[in-house]
Amino acid sequence: MPNSRKPTWDPQQYLRHSGHRTRPFHDLLARIPDLPARDRPARIADLGCGPGNVTTLLAGRWPGARITGFDSSPEMLAAAARYAGPTPGGGSLDFRHADAADWVPDEPFDLIVSNAALQWVPGHSASFAAWTGALTPGGTFALQVPGNFTSPSHAILDDLIDSPQWRPRVGPHARRYVHVLEAWEYLGHLTDLGCEADAWETTYIQLLRGEDPVLDWVKGTALRPVLTALAEDEAARTEFLAQYRDLLRKAYPPGPHGTVFPFRRIFALGRKPVG
Ligand SMILES: C[S@@+](CC[C@H](N)C(=O)[O-])C[C@H]1O[C@@H](n2cnc3c(N)ncnc32)[C@H](O)[C@@H]1O
Repeated sequence: MPNSRKPTWDPQQYLRHSGHRTRPFHDLLARIPDLPARDRPARIADLGCGPGNVTTLLAGRWPGARITGFDSSPEMLAAAARYAGPTPGGGSLDFRHADAADWVPDEPFDLIVSNAALQWVPGHSASFAAWTGALTPGGTFALQVPGNFTSPSHAILDDLIDSPQWRPRVGPHARRYVHVLEAWEYLGHLTDLGCEADAWETTYIQLLRGEDPVLDWVKGTALRPVLTALAEDEAARTEFLAQYRDLLRKAYPPGPHGTVFPFRRIFALGRKPVG
């Protein structure tokens, strides 16, 4: 039967490449303007917070802030729970279940940020009006999403998923990550909503180490729907991974220093005007 289940997440697998995965968040953070000064702690939402390591970086930049990470994965929320509680700067971190597909802020936020998550949310730009509408004057909405869906790693995966052997097993839902807009489209949406917008893209030339490192990378992200679909059939899962691994080895041959895995990412932010 084709799969229609939501992908399950594996925080340990995802965190195996946390250095490369965290760098774009630092780059996004560097472009977020200071939050509006208030007579209360800054209020921050991290949408699709994952295992919470990136959420803690927000507490580093805004030590007194009250920060809530939202995620739809029980596995990720369980991993994030270790960071919950007061922060050294006098703020707090907590984590809650929410689906970004229908999340509507129920209080004003000074910052709503989403890192490497909205690619899993079809039509997410339709929520921008509600999200930027919930910002305090001078507050910011900021996002980063992968923009590498035409790269060999994804093109090969798509071809395998669509092949006569695998399509009946994994189904079209395994390709649910193609919901990303181009940087200029995000810029347009946020400007239309009255925000001062900024958008850009960066291709990181990542050097990965170890055996089959690109396969190891996608096991934490783009492969989640396939791994979920084949969770109860170990033989099929092993065969799918072997076929994908062999194709990836040709597309990303190891070099003398490791395997070069270019990764394009898209960034956008919109600041609500003060006046
Ligand atoms: C690639 S991880 C990114 C985690 C974290 N933001 C980071 O930068 O490390 C993607 C996260 O998005 C979450 N996610 C996917 N679809 C979601 C949805 N509809 N609502 C909320 N979270 C979602 C997943 O559970 C996962 O934790």
